[in-house]
Amino acid sequence: MSISFDQHQDVIKLLEISSGFTSEGGDLRFKKIMHQLLSDICLLIERHDVTPEEFWQAVNYLHTLGGRQEAALLAAGLGLEHYLDLRDDERERAQGLAGGTPRTIEGPLYVANAPLSEGFAHMDDGADAGEPMWLHGQVKDADGRPLAGAVVDIWHANTLGNYSFFDKSQSDFNLRRRVKTDVNGRYAVRSILPSGYGCPPDGPTQALLNRLGRHGNRPAHIHFFVSAPGHKHLTTQINLSGDRYLWDDFAFATRHELIADPVKVTDPAIAAQRDLPGAHTEVTFDFSLYPTADSEEQNRIKRARALQN
Ligand SMILES: [Fe+2]
Repeated sequence: MSISFDQHQDVIKLLEISSGFTSEGGDLRFKKIMHQLLSDICLLIERHDVTPEEFWQAVNYLHTLGGRQEAALLAAGLGLEHYLDLRDDERERAQGLAGGTPRTIEGPLYVANAPLSEGFAHMDDGADAGEPMWLHGQVKDADGRPLAGAVVDIWHANTLGNYSFFDKSQSDFNLRRRVKTDVNGRYAVRSILPSGYGCPPDGPTQALLNRLGRHGNRPAHIHFFVSAPGHKHLTTQINLSGDRYLWDDFAFATRHELIADPVKVTDPAIAAQRDLPGAHTEVTFDFSLYPTADSEEQNRIKRARALQN
């Protein structure tokens, strides 16, 4: 009976040594993960008869990926970031903690410590003559009660699909703000309507997608972190309806509950109320935050649910 090469005694020994199993020190869990990873790579090489040229092409690809800082972009494009979300969803379901506004991917373009204000923020610096956007909504708890003092951390692209910080032509923290909800749990921002965007066309992520016959485009969307003491931190984004890539997002972020419908507002009285020059687009989105798994409140809810079932 023949034995596959990855089960050859020399290979088994090689992987044990290279994973540190025969060395003192190090981290056992990490050793096991590396051993699995290396074993899977060897198995893959054998199953697909990967040539040395192909192997070194892959190694050089990793060099390029790192050099262009696109590893996180590729993780989103290959669906791995969405896979982590699905896994977290499943874990919460199994623990009876599911509920609230669904999570979706963070993506690689968040910048911490955006300016913080109470109730309202003006997000754009006026340099981009995009469609003015009035984005507002309410943050509520699991029982639908308004959550005052929740922090809504918002970031989105400009009309060219670019993000400040990464796009050095934009001012610091342009289109990035944190807003604390008011006593009624409400937040509101004035900004500009973002555009969708694609992977850098000359980058390694797009090059890989090309070989898969896939595009690298995302629909127009707005990212959020929403947090409040005692509640699960929410990482999510809303996708704007009407975009051609709404259900064909290369990063798999669109979820039914996270679609917002932009509405054109032409009433001058409403524009004046919002201190906007005239016609604009209104986007409304409410968030529901569930208690954190660690809190006493969460345990109370779990017990209550268990009694109901
Ligand atoms: Fe984004």
